[in-house]
Amino acid sequence: MGNPHTVIVNLKNYKESTGQNLIGFLGSLKGIENEKNVRIIMAVSPLDLVNAKKYSSYEIFSQTVDPVPKGAFTGKIPIEGLLEIDVKGSLVNHSENRIGSEKIESIMGISKKLNFETVICVESLEEARRYAPMKPEFIAYEPPELIGGEVSVTTAAPSIIRDVVDACSGSDVKVLVGAGVKNADDANKSIELGAHGVLIASGIVKSHDPLKSLKGIIQGITDSC
Ligand code: G3P
Repeated sequence: MGNPHTVIVNLKNYKESTGQNLIGFLGSLKGIENEKNVRIIMAVSPLDLVNAKKYSSYEIFSQTVDPVPKGAFTGKIPIEGLLEIDVKGSLVNHSENRIGSEKIESIMGISKKLNFETVICVESLEEARRYAPMKPEFIAYEPPELIGGEVSVTTAAPSIIRDVVDACSGSDVKVLVGAGVKNADDANKSIELGAHGVLIASGIVKSHDPLKSLKGIIQGITDSC
């Protein structure tokens, strides 16, 4: 597979995957870090980034970032600071942490200069059209009403996924889809609809067998290639 598909697992602030449970959770996915056909990224709370880097060999992204340089910016998360701990990308504007277009634009300005990868999360086709020209590495389409639920975005909004893929096709931006994604069929469908991969949280973190669930997602993606 020349250009591997991508799965981003968002650990959110779930009890099962953060703080004292972070290392155990990442350990429960043992073996997946060697997966060759799909790029696997863990999106980790800023509180846990250092530990995630220290105790696992996953590719780690932050769940959020701020458009500031290093300096007198209390409580902010500068891209340079993330790069110093070898965190090379971040979610931006997640539905649970919306930041608005001005801040997104500033983050994109800095990230381009520093070669930092961004995943701009969007809730609609209109937002995908607005942010694709900024050329993030990824646009992640996630309808907020489906997040954490039982109905997958691939079932509820297939035509919007196709439209988002079309909107991003001219700008080399990879499209991820998320919200309610749970199994191999959902992952398979996302690729069939033209997406590059999935952004997933509860389907892995809340699963009684996270490793099996993540393997299922990877299988669904590779089956469609
Ligand atoms: O960032 C991923 C997320 O918002 C989707 O959540 O639980 O529906 O996979 P979930």
